[in-house]
Amino acid sequence: MEKPRADDARLSRRVVCGNPRLIVIQNAIHPEPETAPPDRTAAGTLVGRLGVRSIVLVGMMGAGKSSVGRRLAARLGLPFVDADNEIEAAAGMTIPDIFAKHGEPYFRTGEARVIARLLDGGPQVLATGGGAFMNAETRAAIAAKGVAVWLKAEAETLLRRIKRRGDRPLLMTDDPAATLRNLIEERYPVYADARFTVHSRDVPHEKIVDEIIEVLGDGIDSAGGVSPPQTSGKPSAMTVQPSPRAPTVVDVALGERAYDIVIGRDVLASLGARVAALRPGARVALVTDANVAGLHLGTARASLAAAGVDAVEVVVAPGEGSKSWRGIEQVCEAVIAGRIERRDLVIALGGGVIGDLAGFAAALVKRGVDYVQVPTTLLAQVDSSVGGKTAIDSPQGKNLIGSFHQPVLVLADTAALDTLPPEQFRAGYAEVVKYGLLGDAGFFDWLEANWQEVFAGGPAREHAIAVSCRAKAAIVARDERETGDRALLNLGHTFGHAFEAAAGFGGELLHGDAVALGMALAFEFSVRQGLCPAADMERAVAHLARTGLPVRVGDLAGEAPGVDLLMDLIAQDKKVKRGKLTFILVRALGDAFVADDVDPAAIRAFLTEKLAAR
Ligand SMILES: NC(=O)c1ccc[n+]([C@@H]2O[C@H](COP(=O)([O-])OP(=O)(O)OC[C@H]3O[C@@H](n4cnc5c(N)ncnc54)[C@H](O)[C@@H]3O)[C@@H](O)[C@H]2O)c1
Ligand SMILES: [Zn+2]
Repeated sequence: MEKPRADDARLSRRVVCGNPRLIVIQNAIHPEPETAPPDRTAAGTLVGRLGVRSIVLVGMMGAGKSSVGRRLAARLGLPFVDADNEIEAAAGMTIPDIFAKHGEPYFRTGEARVIARLLDGGPQVLATGGGAFMNAETRAAIAAKGVAVWLKAEAETLLRRIKRRGDRPLLMTDDPAATLRNLIEERYPVYADARFTVHSRDVPHEKIVDEIIEVLGDGIDSAGGVSPPQTSGKPSAMTVQPSPRAPTVVDVALGERAYDIVIGRDVLASLGARVAALRPGARVALVTDANVAGLHLGTARASLAAAGVDAVEVVVAPGEGSKSWRGIEQVCEAVIAGRIERRDLVIALGGGVIGDLAGFAAALVKRGVDYVQVPTTLLAQVDSSVGGKTAIDSPQGKNLIGSFHQPVLVLADTAALDTLPPEQFRAGYAEVVKYGLLGDAGFFDWLEANWQEVFAGGPAREHAIAVSCRAKAAIVARDERETGDRALLNLGHTFGHAFEAAAGFGGELLHGDAVALGMALAFEFSVRQGLCPAADMERAVAHLARTGLPVRVGDLAGEAPGVDLLMDLIAQDKKVKRGKLTFILVRALGDAFVADDVDPAAIRAFLTEKLAAR
């Protein structure tokens, strides 16, 4: 079997930075990040000029403060904090509920207090609720500790964007348009106090971000002073973004080891409050990789700090290479050096690599400390963060050294996926389709109709992730240690792993891409065996292909592996018993089963034909 790249990517250097609580483990051989780092030119200058001040986005509901703010923060390498989320986390209820239960004055007082506290955590990008800037004390606090940017939008634009939303308490009136106009009349003169104004309109969010960076870059001098109010852009409309809503919670029913999967946009901002509530007084080791650190560590750090949670940060090189003996050694040592005790927590902030690595470190250190999964790839949100499998790779193969160690909480921020490279998102989507194909034909139907919305973000994405997590949670609850049903989750994986291994794990062929091809092959093979109607196979293959996932050997880049190599790899796969092969086959869309007596000769003949047809 070809060796995984894990054994050549040696992790060999540890840098303890100026901040003694930040331990950066760098990969000496592949030091370059896999995704572009935040813009270090105009953005870098701006960050330098900001100092500890925050960029505070103000404006009406629907002006795009969260969606623009998140992207602005990613560009500047600063944390993004949504004041509304912080308020909800602090209150333990949604804003509509706070309004309903306690009234607006109560909410405004709490809002001012939370914003005052958040402003001490700069530099950051802070999005504030529409009414926040109306409070004179809040305006003064923002002027002292931040720079206010008003995202100004026309009434028609706002109305169109917020029409579909049911969570805006101030607009729950008989005539929302009139209410909105009254609010605009009342608020716009006050918003005009903001030092900067950028027009929110129908252009990509990144364009608005560019304008904010430009206008701030021009307006803030190097001494940190601010020149007179400035305006950019022309008024019109901007793309509709889903509103922040209460997160979806999926329960993983494992008795004493039961835990919640919390899924929603911007839930990362609630990490600190959730950790503090789950384990009062606990310290945490926050493990992430260098790519994710540049995009989302700031938000996690700010949230923990705001909740008073003391954290040591451990940053490893991105990529499968970190799931190695060297990687686990270094993470364990960093966690121990961070004085994490048995009642403290490890937090895995990243994709499946970080989840597997940090989870395994948590299983080992002090004979096991609890950990929280904060998955930031689609694959990790729907698959690897749920179920408690943790592992590193050995030179003999992937995931060969590991343990079952369930997390105590999974926090899946669907907005974190906005920064994921599209090919990574698509690869993760293969695992989403898998849940439909293996046991839920209705979900598959829904995906066929809604997949574009899932890719776009918003409620459909959250729904798809929640259904996937529910499916995985149900299977894990039935068969935690994979003695039976859990094997169904391997649909497409025996074929897929063989192609993945042949390409070199962690290499050009993404896991999800390999799984998509594997599922297409599993369906085709099932049809050949007379097990499944051809029409079902055709629908499965067509859907995967429509999203751009590979479904034929010919769809793979590079040279195809030979059948001997593939058969060797399949035989070495851990799903083999007494010379017969175990495959997950299908009887129909949504009806997979474990076939543990598959004839290797039939697989060889099938693969030979598929390889020839490429
Ligand atoms: N434990 C399990 O049950 C289980 C299940 C499936 C897969 N896995 C493991 O998961 C791993 C693959 O996970 P993966 O696909 O998430 O890979 P990954 O963790 O390597 O992430 C993929 C890439 O995306 C980057 N990234 C992560 N989040 C990002 C974000 N929000 N924005 C931009 N970039 C981001 C990462 O730095 C990395 O470069 C494999 O090691 C596999 O064995 C484990
Ligand atoms: Zn998989």
